[in-house]
Amino acid sequence: MVKSLFRWGAFSLVAGILILQLVPYGHDHTNPPVKVEPKWDTALTRELSVRACFDCHSNQTIWPWYSNAAPASWLIQHDVEEGRQRLNFSEWDRPQRESRGAARQVQRGEMPPRSYIVLHPTASLSADEKQGLIQGLQNTLGSTGTAEGH
Ligand code: HEC
Repeated sequence: MVKSLFRWGAFSLVAGILILQLVPYGHDHTNPPVKVEPKWDTALTRELSVRACFDCHSNQTIWPWYSNAAPASWLIQHDVEEGRQRLNFSEWDRPQRESRGAARQVQRGEMPPRSYIVLHPTASLSADEKQGLIQGLQNTLGSTGTAEGH
């Protein structure tokens, strides 16, 4: 009795997970073409931004294997869509209204999101790296907001 209940439970769980995969959202793992990047003040600023920000704020997202499996895929797709909308380092040919706030987000520890760092240890910055990124983002984005020209 207990054994068949357990089997039924396990079956339902697997069936449920499989059904989740049928939801059409979360499979659109496109990386649109990279157009224009900001005029980075140094190569280091870019490197730190790639490590800590590019998965959600560029068109060069590295989609992890679990981004193919619901429900993780839904959360990741949502983060990338919203992240790109707010700030996209690959589309500096269009206005990036949130760019001035980028250094502040890092300073406050709000970006990169903590849940992201847990899964992406390489995005975890040392105190020096964090300071360098804040300064670099200020130099790159702070004064003009958006870089004009290509
Ligand atoms: C895991 C995905 C992810 C990563 C990595 C990430 N962000 Fe974000 N970011 C988001 C999302 C989603 C939003 C919009 C929702 C929000 O504000 O939380 C956002 C919003 C922002 C905003 C707009 C601020 C606002 O209040 O709306 C700025 C600026 C920003 N991020 C900068 C950065 C910088 C700089 C980095 C790297 C140091 C970074 N983000 C890393 C997902 C990410």
